[in-house]
Amino acid sequence: MSDKANGGMEKSLDSAAYLTADAFARDKAAIFHRQWFCAGREEDMPAPGDHKILDIAGESVIVVRGKEGAIHAHYNVCRHRGARMCDAVSDARWGVKLDAGVVGRTMIRCPYHGWSYALDGRLLAAPQLQDSPGFDKAAFGLHPVAVQTWGGFVFLNLSPDTAPDFTADLAEPSRRLANYPLADLVTAQTINYEVNANWKLILENYNECYHCPGVHPELTAIVPAFKVRGGIDLDWEAGIPHREGAYTYTWDGTTRRAPFPGLSEEEKVRHKGELIYPNLMFSVSCDHAAAFVLWPLAADRTLIECRFLFHPDEVAKGDFDPSDAVDFWDLVNRQDWAVCERVQSGIAARVHTHGFYAPIEDLSLDIRRYIERCGEP
Ligand code: FES
Ligand SMILES: [Fe+2]
Repeated sequence: MSDKANGGMEKSLDSAAYLTADAFARDKAAIFHRQWFCAGREEDMPAPGDHKILDIAGESVIVVRGKEGAIHAHYNVCRHRGARMCDAVSDARWGVKLDAGVVGRTMIRCPYHGWSYALDGRLLAAPQLQDSPGFDKAAFGLHPVAVQTWGGFVFLNLSPDTAPDFTADLAEPSRRLANYPLADLVTAQTINYEVNANWKLILENYNECYHCPGVHPELTAIVPAFKVRGGIDLDWEAGIPHREGAYTYTWDGTTRRAPFPGLSEEEKVRHKGELIYPNLMFSVSCDHAAAFVLWPLAADRTLIECRFLFHPDEVAKGDFDPSDAVDFWDLVNRQDWAVCERVQSGIAARVHTHGFYAPIEDLSLDIRRYIERCGEP
């Protein structure tokens, strides 16, 4: 096809970028092992010693709240002979329980020879080695993973020495969402979806409304603006208006929940959305937010952790019920995952070398721009 016949459409990434193990390895090396990515919420670890073990594109990481309240992250590997320190799966497989991982809320202990580390990663003790001449404990801290927080979200970088500036990418979302009390919000419900689609397809789908009229009839009934020209004219700065009488993402566009404190009059009736590369899709209404954290599992598989966030004052009420928002979102989500899986299987056709972005899908092109910006592994 000549470029003239494209009608101004840009080519998408090559189909192989969504399909092959090589392309997935490249994404891991160039993006998930190098760039900042979202790893959940601070609220998941409220007290010192609270921790999570994350599998990030094949790397196991301990994320832990330290004694002084800061969050630390380390590769889950002992500096001695390389044992994985936190590994409940191996223990369960053999029917044993080793004294390991974060113990006593104060230290991380390797089960193999008993090296122990402070929550901030410093080596505290190495049995029998303490008095060895020339053994410098300071040289044997855990391999660090860099940590930053924004709006209550935790972001990690697996290459701390070369990590790009964290604040640059978040400057614009911070400005657009300045009135929303993001850090205060609490997760009332989480739904995990395992979707048989490449993580990049899911981001591309989030970035366009071209598909909304056909795929999301319930959503477009609440937000008719999504039906107009693929949403290309939408003003994401000011927020997206709903139909007359509607102001949030629920079945009827209303809710008993109060709007977040601090919102402008416009923000009380509009909706905003952000895509924070590479793996946080974030959508805020006046009374709740939906945060989608993507965990790439394989070229054709992505775990999507979908959290529904509310103001703590609302959650504390005896009659708090998030289902008006959660059930509505769940339907819209499942519609999205279904089309993403169709694309994943469709692009495997031997005749499909790449797709196209219609001019009204310009934002989906961002994935191509982002991949280019991240450079080669
Ligand atoms: S491998 Fe961890 S103490 Fe030996
Ligand atoms: Fe959608």
